[in-house]
Order: sequence, then C-alpha cells, then structure tokens
Amino acid sequence: MFRTHTCGELRASHIGSTVTLAGWVQKSRDLGGMTFLDLRDRYGLTQLTFNMEDHAELCEKARKLGREFVIQIEGKVIERSSKNTNIPTGEIEILVSDLKILNAAKTPPFTIEDETDGGDELRAQYRYLDLRRKPVQNKLMLRNKVALQTRVFLDEQGFWDVETPYLIKSTPEGARDFVVPSRMNEGQFYALPQSPQTFKQLLMVSGFDRYYQIVKCFRDEDLRADRQPEFTQIDCEMAFVEQEDVLQTFEGLIKHLFKTIKNVDFEGAFPRMTYAQAMEKYGSDKPDIRFGMEFVDLTDLSQGSGFPVFDSAEAVLGINVEQCAVYTRKQLDALTDWVKRPQIGATGLIYLRVNEDGTYKSSVDKFYSEAQLKAWAERCNAQPGDLVLLLCGGLDKTRKQLNELRLHLGNELGLRNPNEFKPLWVVDFPLLEWDEDNQRFHAMHHPFTSPKPEDFHLLATEPGKVRANAYDLAMNGVELGGGSIRIHDREIQSRMFDLLGFTKEEAEAQFGFLMKAFEYGAPPHGGLAFGLDRLVATMGGSESIRDYIAFPKNNSGRDVMIDAPSPLDATQLKELHIQLNK
Ligand code: AMO
Repeated sequence: MFRTHTCGELRASHIGSTVTLAGWVQKSRDLGGMTFLDLRDRYGLTQLTFNMEDHAELCEKARKLGREFVIQIEGKVIERSSKNTNIPTGEIEILVSDLKILNAAKTPPFTIEDETDGGDELRAQYRYLDLRRKPVQNKLMLRNKVALQTRVFLDEQGFWDVETPYLIKSTPEGARDFVVPSRMNEGQFYALPQSPQTFKQLLMVSGFDRYYQIVKCFRDEDLRADRQPEFTQIDCEMAFVEQEDVLQTFEGLIKHLFKTIKNVDFEGAFPRMTYAQAMEKYGSDKPDIRFGMEFVDLTDLSQGSGFPVFDSAEAVLGINVEQCAVYTRKQLDALTDWVKRPQIGATGLIYLRVNEDGTYKSSVDKFYSEAQLKAWAERCNAQPGDLVLLLCGGLDKTRKQLNELRLHLGNELGLRNPNEFKPLWVVDFPLLEWDEDNQRFHAMHHPFTSPKPEDFHLLATEPGKVRANAYDLAMNGVELGGGSIRIHDREIQSRMFDLLGFTKEEAEAQFGFLMKAFEYGAPPHGGLAFGLDRLVATMGGSESIRDYIAFPKNNSGRDVMIDAPSPLDATQLKELHIQLNK
C-alpha cells in the first residue's frame, strides 16, 4: 500500500499506531535538534517530526527537502506538545522513521497556500499548481457536490441522462458558433452546440419523456465574469408538461441542492415576477431582490416645471437610497461621475435629500417648490434621512442605467450579502426582440419557444407584443437558468421562422430535420437549462464563474496554460482544405 492514511485523517485516537503517508511538502522548520515539516494532500495537512538524536541521517535528508517535493514517509503517531486547534489533525504529529523522495520539485512560481502571492496571469499559466491550493480545491469540491446531487434528484424524478453530439449543425441561442472543419467533407463545417436544444426536443419526439444532461456548451461571444466560451449546462426537457410543471420540478431541484449542500431551506414557493414587472421595478430581467431600492416613476411629477432635462425626457425614474441623506457633496459628485462613465452613459444624476427635520434639498430645487419635492419623496416612500436619486432619458436606457446604479449602491452599502440566497422566477418574457440595427426581430429566448396561446392573435398584427411561455430563474442578480414551453407543431414552427426573417429555403436547410420530426407525432414538451458554472459560483458566494472551472479561459478566450488557440501547420490545413487569408 502506498499510504495507510491521508494527510487529513489522523486524530488523537491513532496515537501509537505506525502509519505511512504520502503527499507534498508544504513547508519545513528547523529547530536545532528537530525538523518539522507539513505534509499536504487533498484531505489536509499533517505535521511530521524528524529527530536529530534518533535519526540524524533522516533529519539531514528532511532538511534538504524543498517546497512541493513529493514524499512518502513511515512513522509513529504521537501526541503533539503544542496542539494546533486550527486544523483537524492538530492534536498529533508523526515521528518519522523512514523517508522516501518520490519526486523532486522546482520552487513553485508562487506560494501554494490559502493566501498566495501569485497574480492572475501567473496562476493561470500554472493552473495545476493553483489547483493545489485549498480554497481553489474547495470550489471544485462544491461543483462536484452540485453535479452529484443534481444527478441524484433528477434520477429520482425519472430523468434519463442521454448524451447528444458535439459535432452538429448550428443551433441558434443568440451567439456565434464555434466551427470545426470536416476533413472528409471538403469545404464543410460542423458547429459546436450552443446548447443541445434541438436534440433534447427530438428525444421528446422519441418518447424519452424526461431527459437531462450535464453538458458542455460552446458560444463564441464576448466574455464577462459570468461568461465562458465553453461552459456547462444542466440541460433538461420534459414531455406532456405545462409551464407550471416545469417550474415546480426545477424549483424542487434548486431546493434539493441548497438543502443537501448548504443546509439552506427556502420557505414556501419561490417568488415570481413577470418580465414587464421586473423591467419596471428593477430595469433588469434578473433582479437582485436581496435589497429594495425599487424604481419609482416620477415622470408625471417632474415635468412641466421648466427643468429642460426632465421636460424633454421620456422617463424620469428614481430610487430611494434609505438613510443616505448624509451623503456629502463629494460622495454625490463621485456617484455622478460613476453614472457618467461611458459604460453607464447617463448624462447626469439628480438628488433629493429628505433632511432629518423634514425639509428637502435637491440639486434642482430652483425649478421645484417644496410641495413638489414633497410629492416626489412621498411617491418614493422616502423618510427623513433618506436620499432619492433620479435618472432620466429614454425609458429603456434609463432603466438600464438605474439598474447599474442600484446594483453599485447595493455593493457599496453592503446590501448584497453573498451568504443570502434570493431566488426569483421571471416569467412571461416577450417572444421577440426588435433589432434596431438590422431592422428585424430576433427570438428573445430561442426560435423553438412557444407563444402564449392567448397572445396568438397578435402574431400577425403586433408580433412585438406577443408574450412567450418562457421563464428564467434569477438568484442574487444572476440568471441561473432559463427555458420555455416549445412549439411542437410544424406549421407554427414554420411561421416562427418566417417571423424571424428566414426564407422557406433557409428554414428548411437549417431546421428541416426538426420540422420533419414534428410531422411524426411530437408531444407537447418544454424544459430548461441551468448554467452549472453560475449556479455553483452563486452557491459559493461569487459572481465570477472562472474559479469554479478547473481549466477556464481568460478574457480573450485563451487558455494560457496550454497556449490555445494556436496556429495549425501547413499539412493539417491542407488536409482540412483550408487556405488562410493572411
Ligand atoms: P440559455 O441560452 O438561457 O438557454 O442558457 C441557459 C443557461 O446557461 C447559462 N449560460 C452561460 N454560462 C456561462 N457562460 C456562458 N457563455 C453562458 N451562456 C449561458 C446561463 C443560462 O441561464 N437551450 C436553452 C435552454 C432551454 O430552453 O431549455 C438555453 O441554452 O445560466
């Protein structure tokens, strides 16, 4: 046996036994006649002791070990004289009687401890060393638990895990495809799936009834903290269901995961909000409802008093920042600069202070009477000591900007507690989204999403007003997942492609296989996909998914450790019938 125990296993009850351990040298300390060494593996740390008096040669050997050497030792478990209550093995140490060096190690480029001195770039280059660190391993342990408990839950609910292909034809999910040239089919390309959407629908046509897969998806889009070019979905589909069945089932999954992994109980059903309400109250389709500051429409109260900026605006919206009337001029100027940055793009920020004595102070009080300012405050439910902040302009833009400001203030005021979890179903998404640049509609979710039957009559006349049977689960301001009830009728699916500007030929070439399948008895069906990376990161209290992926890409989509992407040599290019246009 290579080892009798792990480095996290030994306790006082093992005192007196002879053990063999293997692991990495974390650090060593020489104290005259004694050498102490911390041995590390995935399970923990164990202190090794080398005694000059009894084992001089061994002690000399131990002194020469560098950090991260891989060693195997044999020794006796003894009681530690100075106990370390910070680690589970802190009551014991090993008096070493034999030491074998399994592999030497160069000095690592950064310290492999909970706190490290390595920068992002360096740690990405040596990701396998960064992955030795406990906090990083804990994140991947959480991911493992989430994946395992997902399987446990879905299996119990009768879902089958079915693999779908990676070399496919484009599935539109709103991003660009990654493509793979085909050697055997000159001039032709596979697309990597943006999701297994069409395949899971075909499995419903095949009568599989309940499908799931923990599956890689590939999207060539601009990266952010919560976006990777390859990411993982918990992808699910169910036949003979309505929206309510899907929401209930996956609310059950999320509750199961939080209960079994974090011991968090959600009381009652998850709250729900329509897309229209979410946009009106929070300017976002994934509101963070851990805190208030809901939007208040002040357009009617603020126009017609001679303040040109408000008078010419489509919308004047405010938020009540409670107990922040104490903000100084300097703080307000800083906030104004913040909203004026190009990323946010507001033209300015107006404030209204409700002073402790009930009087008002505003940056625009020369245009408004005390009574008018009082009316604003009342509508915002602002009490003495509160601060109302207002933005104005086009409705959609102002909502977006105020959403950013609200989240920024939420962060600054410590209202976004990472250990508090607030799920929210957002339902009734619009079916279509107007693309101003290209003067055409896009599917808001994807082209296979069913319009709400009660909005069917609007399809021909006002397609922009049609709502879909589509839903998202948001948590703490993150879109954890989304899905829809699908179209299962060939005619409606053709009409949808029509609305999206596909010619009959284009729709046939791209999705003929699906529409054909619908002619052979497709059951009503629907489903959803969670982003596993986002779910795990949210459970771990982080907004960045990168730490929860073993080998992530950087912001330019590069893996700096393996140096990918990289050029192909001339022979490979020739085999693939590719000529580079340099
Ligand atoms: P959607 O496109 O909403 O739906 O994706 C589902 C979930 O996947 C996650 N996600 C991502 N995570 C990390 N990086 C990315 N680039 C990325 N893109 C998406 C999000 C998102 O909510 N086929 C449909 C699902 C369905 O209709 O059943 C789909 O893919 O958490």
